[in-house]
Amino acid sequence: MNSSVPPSTAEYGGDEVSALILDPGYSSIRAGFAGEDTPKSIIPTFYGKYDTDKYIYGDNIYVSPRPGLSIHNPMGKEGLVEDWDMAEKVWEYAFSSRLTGHKPGNPKFNGLNDVPNNGELPVEMDIVEAEEKPLADTPLLMTEPGWNPTKAREKTIEIAMEKWGTPAFYLARNGVLAAFAAGKASALVVDVGASTVSVTPVHDGLVLKRGVQHSPYAGDYISSQIRALFKSNTPNPITVTPHYLISSKTAVDAGQPAQATYRNIPAEQAPDASFRRLLEDRTLAEFKECVVQVWPGPASLASPNPNGVPNEEIAKSNPGRPFEFPDGYNQVFGVERYQVVESLFDAKASIPDPDSGFPTPTQTQTIQELVRSALNQVDIDIRPHLLGNVVVTGAASLLYGFNDRLNYELTHMYPSPRVRITAPGNTAERKFGSWIGGSIVASLGTFHQMWISKKEYEEHGPNIVEKRCK
Ligand SMILES: Nc1ncnc2c1ncn2[C@@H]1O[C@H](COP(=O)(O)OP(=O)(O)OP(=O)(O)O)[C@@H](O)[C@H]1O
Ligand SMILES: [Mg+2]
Repeated sequence: MNSSVPPSTAEYGGDEVSALILDPGYSSIRAGFAGEDTPKSIIPTFYGKYDTDKYIYGDNIYVSPRPGLSIHNPMGKEGLVEDWDMAEKVWEYAFSSRLTGHKPGNPKFNGLNDVPNNGELPVEMDIVEAEEKPLADTPLLMTEPGWNPTKAREKTIEIAMEKWGTPAFYLARNGVLAAFAAGKASALVVDVGASTVSVTPVHDGLVLKRGVQHSPYAGDYISSQIRALFKSNTPNPITVTPHYLISSKTAVDAGQPAQATYRNIPAEQAPDASFRRLLEDRTLAEFKECVVQVWPGPASLASPNPNGVPNEEIAKSNPGRPFEFPDGYNQVFGVERYQVVESLFDAKASIPDPDSGFPTPTQTQTIQELVRSALNQVDIDIRPHLLGNVVVTGAASLLYGFNDRLNYELTHMYPSPRVRITAPGNTAERKFGSWIGGSIVASLGTFHQMWISKKEYEEHGPNIVEKRCK
């Protein structure tokens, strides 16, 4: 059979069953059923591991500062999977914990069967167990970054088919899905996530692969810039102490030292440093959402505006934003709240921090330059159409002022043709763009012909994903 021939719908359950949409990101995993507006299950991609080899998933990772607990993420740089065994486990948790229910217990251990001393069950019992894979009745659409390598794509379909037993599978690029979610088959998608910013040209529902650009200067990088800002704060550096290390606190005036009693956990009873860091990051995320602001333009923060007044001066004269830390320390942040995010558009503005783990960005890695590189790689005839359909998605694009600045940079770079940015005002739509796009396409009647059926997978092997999911 030619693998480019679509399966007949009879080969799987057809449209009586809703497909599951699984959208795994670096910071969170979104899961839910096709046809619904938003994902029902959103869990952190981080997981906890005890030195006893016990694992914890989901929001449980935030609540137990126990000895021997360390925090990990199966995704690595560039938003690609690094640890496949653990990626499979956290992804499975994302749907089994809230959507599909837990797998029926292993018949050996569910207490309903007498297990012979040797621990072996009769052969029929093993067959029953084999049929109880978590997605045995559920088609699965998963999302992936546009630069996901072939090996990773094959590994993904292998997990879906062999470990989860899905009867039908599809792997879609998250740029295409975010364009669909915005009602467009052709668009230039700018996705600002946790681990990566990407720019994806989409034409007639297909990714123009040569044009896909990405950089690591996204949400987590902004968090690292906030850390750098806190370290260099005057007169004193700011230390972020997570709530679990504070037993009580008293209100203090802005800029005054915190008056808190700290919980002292002896070293042998403390969790790993990665746990503290995870909880510090939650405070940084809150700071990002409430205080940080993108200088909206015109021109960069370091430049004068069109009337010759330095933008920094204007930024300084804008009212600051107060922020209170878990220990009660609080301060008003003025121009600094623009500085921590300015290097997304002006690389020179990056706050140096040798401990951050991020190399100093270069100007070619700024968002507007990623757009330029993306457009330079696609047919000149479609560039105007793409510029007229810039779709902004990803949770970190919710930064105040982000769209204004992007609009300024792009219109400055391309005075004509007209640049038009589409960014849903609704927070959920911006956070879950690719999940929502998946929910839409998987419920279209015409999508039937796209699924890779179990039978096709068995006939052609995992490489079928390269042929079908372009
Ligand atoms: N309102 C907000 N303002 C600014 N940043 C935000 C806001 N809400 C979330 N973020 C940041 O957005 C990032 C998460 O974005 P998103 O959920 O799109 O990423 P992801 O898909 O998990 O990661 P990636 O795309 O890198 O794989 C985090 O860094 C988070 O702190
Ligand atoms: Mg993402």
